[in-house]
Amino acid sequence: MSFFKVAKVSEIPVGTMKHVEAGGKELCIANVNGKFYAMDDRCGHENARLSRGSLMDAIATCPMHSSQFDVTTGKLMSGPVLELGGLKEMFTGCPEKVKKAVAQMFEGIAEEQRLIKTYDQQVYEVNVDGSDVLIQM
Ligand code: FES
Repeated sequence: MSFFKVAKVSEIPVGTMKHVEAGGKELCIANVNGKFYAMDDRCGHENARLSRGSLMDAIATCPMHSSQFDVTTGKLMSGPVLELGGLKEMFTGCPEKVKKAVAQMFEGIAEEQRLIKTYDQQVYEVNVDGSDVLIQM
């Protein structure tokens, strides 16, 4: 196992996440109240970068379908949310035939997406050395 210097402490303020690459992996570094955590940055659902989502306390929310992970353990807290609410409103002015076809198309996509399982994320040990954030891999 080696430590990789991946970021400066100043690059990851409290309550934020940063995408880094080290050891051939894409990682998400999260700053939870001044303590840093690292986990794989690809959501197990459809591969979105978790670092582009939001962080509330220790819970990272995927930017694509809102799966949630505890960044301190990598544990999956809740699976994807696949709703079409906002999309239906985009087609309000379209003829019924078009609205129905679009709704059917998106429902078919959502049905397939619901079949994709989402799993816990791999986590990594993080150390801070002065102003540097290091990850053990
Ligand atoms: S890609 Fe993360 S929940 Fe779908």
